[in-house]
Amino acid sequence: MMDIIENGTERTPARYLVTSALPYANGPVHIGHLAGVYIPADIYVRYLRLKGRDVVFIGGSDEHGVPITIKARKEGVSPRDVVDKYHGLIKDSFERFGISFDIYSRTTSEIHRRTASDFFRKLFDAGEFVEQSSEQYFDVEASLFLADRYITGGCPRCGADNAYGDQCEACGSTLSPMELLNPRSTISGSVPVLRKTSHWYLPLDRYQAWLERWILEEHKEWKPNVYGQCKSWLDQGLQPRAVSRDLSWGVPVPVEGAEGKVLYVWFDAPIGYISNTRELLPDSWELYWKDGGTRLVHFIGKDNIVFHCIVFPAMLRAHGGYILPDNVPANEFLNLEGKKISTTRNHAVWLHEYLDDFPGKEDALRYALCANAPETKDNDFTWADFQSRNNNELVAVAGNFVNRAMVLTHKYFKGTIPARGELEEIDLAVARQIPEIIARVETMLETFKFREALKSVMDIARVGNKYLADTEPWKLSDSRRIGTVLNLALQICANLAVALAPFLPFAAAKLAAMLRFDPPAWDGIGGVDLLAPGHDLDAPQHLFEKIDDETVARQTKKLRDRELENAAAAANLAPQKDVISAEEFERADIRLATVVAAERVAGTDKLMKLTVDTGIDRRALVSGIADVFAPEELTGKQIPVIVNLAPRKIRGIESRGMIAAVRDASGKLALLHPSNRLPDGSTIG
Ligand code: MF3
Ligand code: ZN
Repeated sequence: MMDIIENGTERTPARYLVTSALPYANGPVHIGHLAGVYIPADIYVRYLRLKGRDVVFIGGSDEHGVPITIKARKEGVSPRDVVDKYHGLIKDSFERFGISFDIYSRTTSEIHRRTASDFFRKLFDAGEFVEQSSEQYFDVEASLFLADRYITGGCPRCGADNAYGDQCEACGSTLSPMELLNPRSTISGSVPVLRKTSHWYLPLDRYQAWLERWILEEHKEWKPNVYGQCKSWLDQGLQPRAVSRDLSWGVPVPVEGAEGKVLYVWFDAPIGYISNTRELLPDSWELYWKDGGTRLVHFIGKDNIVFHCIVFPAMLRAHGGYILPDNVPANEFLNLEGKKISTTRNHAVWLHEYLDDFPGKEDALRYALCANAPETKDNDFTWADFQSRNNNELVAVAGNFVNRAMVLTHKYFKGTIPARGELEEIDLAVARQIPEIIARVETMLETFKFREALKSVMDIARVGNKYLADTEPWKLSDSRRIGTVLNLALQICANLAVALAPFLPFAAAKLAAMLRFDPPAWDGIGGVDLLAPGHDLDAPQHLFEKIDDETVARQTKKLRDRELENAAAAANLAPQKDVISAEEFERADIRLATVVAAERVAGTDKLMKLTVDTGIDRRALVSGIADVFAPEELTGKQIPVIVNLAPRKIRGIESRGMIAAVRDASGKLALLHPSNRLPDGSTIG
């Protein structure tokens, strides 16, 4: 079988370095992680090992960055406590699912701190960074610079209230903290101030031309979703990216005068792949990272594409001496029962919970997640689909075939593998099919099409089932013919035991044990002489078990219960704001005003431009109520308006004031009107 086809020539890499994204240690891992990254990576690596290739498989926890510090604050513990807890939990979950890392380490290790620090220093000394100062939000009360995620405010695009400094979750827009309306610190609740700070930037623009050539011309074979995202980043033109942050949790910036600054988490985390390889192979790690014979493959989810295809390669090139990834087979996202998986809303199937709820059924989930992997588009995991894949495919196809072959051999030959007689055409046809299927599995695996590869592996069992159904050995009386059929059926089982191993390692091992079969390397399969006649089998056991309706109902109920919990939590009203004096309140000038005109702001769903008569004047203001009220419901109505708010430009319109509206916990709106009409301009207070 050919390995890699490059310009028409075949070449087997001397070794493989396979990495899988380092998950943030700010929570447990869920099925989305497994389906997107770790199962495909593990299948690939297990296959390469069976092929006898030299491969190392690197994993680890990403323990720096703002998400960790946010979690620590929320739980009232230190970042160190957070990462210790979740690193342990994540590592254990992966182990129990059979994700066969050669090392699963962490970015708080000493060797990582040193590796990342030296990497930065080398680039710094070589003048590969540019230093730039800028104004950033600073929380005076908490006395720290605020990371984007620590700032909330109004979304300038849709008007939603609680947008973050980097993103509005209501409309999905990417934001910068400077754009937020009425920014607030999520730490102290205070209004942040702008303060000058300086950071080091990796000038990605300098790598634009090189990256265009390397990716767009030399890596046309990358998956379309990966290639497409790279192209779109490159088409937009690359910008310098800050590689340091004002934060106390992380790898300190190894430069004099950089106190209080750490490496940006996306600078240090991918270096974690290098650190973890060093930790695993202190003497030979450089062979894997620096020798041109190594094939480096990064398994990641789609949100990591830019970092692995553009930023990290630019870092490696700036440093010099390192190889670059040969492929980055990123997957799309997995949804759960039609909704986005969400750690914060607890809408997820957590791996540690699955392992406790379904002991011994690790392979059932591995199967369902691979068969339904989001390889080319986002996919949906449903418990019904999980059940049907388990019952109708694993149990009914693979398990059933193996069981029939085993039980019949015990029945007719006391569990001893019979010899074959003369082969008939139907036998020869089956014997020809097996190597064809296996060749297809290989092609699919080498090109990262894991769903197709698994489907083909299952075809081995399908062929086996059909063979037994067509030959009907249980109806035959010629013992020699029965022996031929069962011998072939068992040979198919032996092929299955090897071909299944990358995908379902537990079931494959159980099958091999049942056959008392010492599996050969991958290249040893395909034939029908894997098991010697006269050899005794173990007692038949079921490879897979059915999953019943009650079990599935319990899981869907669990998800529904959590949804209700979330809704209840959301109904908790906002906490009371800090106390202010009567004088402070009286500084707000609130008047009764009549809406004289209302129109939607073009290109937005929520924004409405109101012209109001305040008694003092006529003025325009912009309000986020257009998704609830129609312009004609507003004109002529009297409403309270805060008239002395500093003007703000919203969508090019100067908004002078704010209407006082009522908002409930779920975001529903109502307007306030006076009980009897008073002149516009009357004061409220
Ligand atoms: N922690 C990141 C995430 O979960 C992935 C980091 S991958 C690495 O999205 F390359 F930076 F390690
Ligand atoms: Zn928005």
